[in-house]
Amino acid sequence: MGSSAFVLRGFALPYADALLSAITGIEASSPFRHMVTPGGFTMSVALTNCGKWGWIADRRGYRYSGLDPHHGQPWPAMPKIFEKLAHEAAIAAGFNDFVPDACLVNRYLPGSRLSLHQDKNERDFEAPIISVSLGMMATFLFGGNERTDKTIKITLYHGDVVAWGGKDRLRYHGVMPLKDQPHPVLGSQRINFTFRKAG
Ligand code: SIN
Ligand code: FE2
Repeated sequence: MGSSAFVLRGFALPYADALLSAITGIEASSPFRHMVTPGGFTMSVALTNCGKWGWIADRRGYRYSGLDPHHGQPWPAMPKIFEKLAHEAAIAAGFNDFVPDACLVNRYLPGSRLSLHQDKNERDFEAPIISVSLGMMATFLFGGNERTDKTIKITLYHGDVVAWGGKDRLRYHGVMPLKDQPHPVLGSQRINFTFRKAG
């Protein structure tokens, strides 16, 4: 993938139950919703956040906000076990001292996709991105530093973690439209947690 980009197969499996039960609490106060991009498109992926900073999109742009625009209150706190998973996965990928302050939770249904983009709304690019997949499999696209660079396809399964940082921190990435291949626990959905240091 790149010298600072890794797929950690099954790394999150021991955490899957804790992640899934925490979602119930998170969505009770900050529900999943389909945000509208600055270009006026409604995202096919539904999202929510936990932690100090939450990633949002609206007609004004993409950014992090300390408040959930749904109700103007802070996002739910990031459960300690989330922080631990992100920290341990970062170490396994060679990034020490990673402490996330943002966890974006994306929910994909059959047909949901995420077009190629760079993660660049964070204040600095020193910290890695740690991305955890649960539920249905997805085809992850990992490209280069330019949108037009060739991409490789990586099939991500329940429990896989992708970590990228360092010189690979700004690589374009995305997710192909999901096929309906129901997962034994999650059924026809995929949940992705993206841990970042945003602030
Ligand atoms: C993201 O790039 O924010 C999410 C990637 C994924 O769902 O695997
Ligand atoms: Fe991303």
